Parts: sequence; structure tokens; C-alpha cells
Amino acid sequence: MRSFITINTMIMCLIQLSLETSMWTTFDNIIVFGDSYSDNGNVYALTNESYPQSPPNYKGRFSNGKVWIEYLSMKYQANLIDKAFIYATSDNDLVPGHIQWDNSNYSVPGMKQQIDFFINSYPNQNYDKTLFVMWYFGNDYRYTNNGINPSAVVSSLINSASQLVNNFKPKIILFSTIPLLPNSTNNSTFTNHNKVLKNLLDSFSAEHPDVEVLLYPFDEVLLKFRESAALKEKLNITNVFNNCTSNKDASNVCENPENYMFWDEGHLTTKIYEYIANDVYNRLICLI
Ligand SMILES: *[C@@H]1O[C@H](CO)[C@@H](O)[C@H](O)[C@H]1NC(C)=O
Ligand SMILES: *[C@@H]1O[C@H](CO)[C@@H](O)[C@H](O)[C@H]1NC(C)=O
Ligand SMILES: *[C@@H]1O[C@H](CO)[C@@H](O)[C@H](O)[C@H]1NC(C)=O
Ligand SMILES: *[C@@H]1O[C@H](CO)[C@@H](O)[C@H](O)[C@H]1NC(C)=O
Ligand SMILES: *[C@@H]1O[C@H](CO)[C@@H](O)[C@H](O)[C@H]1NC(C)=O
Ligand SMILES: *[C@@H]1O[C@H](CO)[C@@H](O)[C@H](O)[C@H]1NC(C)=O
Ligand SMILES: *[C@@H]1O[C@H](CO)[C@@H](O)[C@H](O)[C@H]1NC(C)=O
Repeated sequence: MRSFITINTMIMCLIQLSLETSMWTTFDNIIVFGDSYSDNGNVYALTNESYPQSPPNYKGRFSNGKVWIEYLSMKYQANLIDKAFIYATSDNDLVPGHIQWDNSNYSVPGMKQQIDFFINSYPNQNYDKTLFVMWYFGNDYRYTNNGINPSAVVSSLINSASQLVNNFKPKIILFSTIPLLPNSTNNSTFTNHNKVLKNLLDSFSAEHPDVEVLLYPFDEVLLKFRESAALKEKLNITNVFNNCTSNKDASNVCENPENYMFWDEGHLTTKIYEYIANDVYNRLICLI
């Protein structure tokens, strides 16, 4: 399993890249399984366009604009197949994901269910030029108030990845670590999750040498915003701790969302999503 390379090697790589082409410079399809960080309107459709309240949210995203995976597909000019659902867990059989809204209780497919459904509904075609993404943000821990073992959650994610491998022979699967929310300090649940994820992905990768297994250090990238004044200045972000609106009640919205890192208590502003997409893109093309 490869963790993405550091910024310094990336600059070297970008210089070298102008001379050669990489197998990672094009994808025809990007297929994403995940939660609110990647949902581009699936829950919005499920709730008859009533949740999340839009505006101020952007067309059913938990943000003020597109989410990161949409920017990434635009960069690649790839077809986006978005199977992510707001509030999704790793697996509904482990922790059931649901949304209580407007007197209804909507069940949302967990990542395992998203993948099972995809396997049953999509033809077994050639997925050589397809980027598979499993982008998980930790909802099992939120539902259970940290009452679930990271090994159980990560094992479930890896089992789903095995299903992808058995059914589609993907060339590349991209995972991410879980970052901290605005006001949290070092969070042992997430630290443990990320540690277990790294270990089990190493074994998974060794079992499947034909698959390029990548782990995006989302936690480190978001921490960089807390630490680097230069980065904040470059993106005109002055606020990395306060939320611009609330996902419980979106009636108040701050005046300058473009200066905020977090749109609501747990989700990023679209500017940060675009930054993440560019960062993922730059690291991918550097793999050569
Ligand atoms: C969906 O929302 C529209 C507009 O608010 C409403 O007219 C329609 O009855 C709703 N459909 C369902 C199935 O609730
Ligand atoms: C909503 O459904 C989920 C399962 O999908 C269940 O765990 C939860 O208790 C339900 N909530 C209510 C209020 O019925
Ligand atoms: C760790 O994160 C979880 C999920 O967001 C949260 O419930 C918990 O309060 C956090 N713990 C600390 C110490 O910040
Ligand atoms: C959080 O704690 C873990 C273990 O206690 C440590 O390895 C890690 O470096 C810490 N991370 C940060 C950002 O402080
Ligand atoms: C940064 O944000 C402030 C407040 O929204 C705005 O007035 C200013 O023009 C922005 N600066 C740049 C360089 O975009
Ligand atoms: C930010 O989140 C807190 C906690 O949920 C909430 O009480 C507050 O109203 C939110 N701020 C804004 C501007 O919506
Ligand atoms: C973080 O803490 C600040 C200051 O206490 C508070 O105003 C803000 O709403 C908090 N942010 C979140 C997302 O809860």
C-alpha cells in the first residue's frame, strides 16, 4: 500500500512529468462509495429534495458548492458515478445509517450496501481506466458515540474492497484517513482508526499485487491548515475553527464563507473541497 508522497517530492515529480506521460493522467470513470463528503445529491433525491436544506446548502450537498469528488472528476474530465450517501456508515449490518427528517426515517445504504448494489446492477465491463474511491469519514463512531471498535469498522471496509476486487479487477482503489473536526484535539478513536486502516491496507495490498492501493492522508492535509499561515493566506482562509452555518439548523449563514474552512460543524467549504481535489490529482499523477 502506498501513502501518497510528500509535497517536496511532488514538486520534483511535476517537473519530471512535463517530459513523460503517466498512466494516472487519465481516467474515463471515477466511481465513489462514501458519505456526506462525497454525496452529490443522492440523499437529496431520496428525500424529495428536502434535505439537506438547499439553499443555503448547494443542491443537496453539505457545502456551499460542489464536493471534492466532483472537482476531481472535472479535472480528469471523467464520468462520475457517485454512490455516496450523507450519513452512510461502513455497513448497515454493523451500524445502521439513517436520517430522521420531516417526520420520516430514511434508511441510507452503508458503504457495503452501496458496493453490493453496484455489483448487482452494473455490467462487468473493463474497469482499467477507472478510479475506484472508498472515502469514509467515520459515521460509525458518531452514531455509536465512539462505542465501536475501529478494527470492526476497518475490517468491514476492507471486506467491501475485496468484493470490488473480486468483481471488477480494479487497477486502483483510493482510500482516505479520517481527519479531526474543527475544535477537536487529538482524538484517539480517529488515531486508532487510521492506524488500523494503514496496517490492514498493507496486508490487503500484499494479497492483491495487481491493485494499486492508495491512502490519502486527509488528517495530515487538514491539520496543515491549522499550522500553516502561508497556506491559509494563499487560500484566503482566516477561520479554521468556526462553522459558517449549522447542519442542524441552516437558517444562519456567515457573511464570508470564502474565508472559512468549515461550512458546518463537520463539512468543508467548497473552496477546501477544490483544494483537496487538486491535491489528490497532483499526488496521483506523481505516481507515474
Ligand atoms: C415532492 O415535493 C414536491 C414539491 O414540494 C411535492 O409537490 C411532491 O408531492 C413531493 N413528492 C413526494 C413523493 O413527497
Ligand atoms: C430509524 O431507522 C433506523 C434503522 O434504519 C433505526 O435504527 C432507528 O431506531 C429508527 N429511528 C426511529 C426514531 O424510528
Ligand atoms: C472524537 O471524535 C468523535 C467523532 O467526531 C467525537 O464524538 C468525540 O467527541 C471526539 N473526541 C475528542 C476527545 O475530541
Ligand atoms: C495523536 O496521538 C497519537 C498517539 O497518542 C500520536 O501518535 C500522534 O502523533 C498524535 N497526533 C497529533 C496530530 O498530535
Ligand atoms: C479575502 O477575503 C476578504 C473577505 O471576504 C475579501 O475582502 C478579499 O478581497 C479576499 N482577498 C482575496 C485576495 O481574494
Ligand atoms: C456552529 O455549530 C454550533 C454547534 O452545533 C451551533 O450551535 C452554532 O449555531 C453554529 N454556528 C452557526 C453560525 O450556525
Ligand atoms: C468551535 O469553538 C468556537 C469557540 O468556542 C465556537 O464558536 C464554534 O462554534 C466551535 N465550532 C464548532 C464547529 O463547533
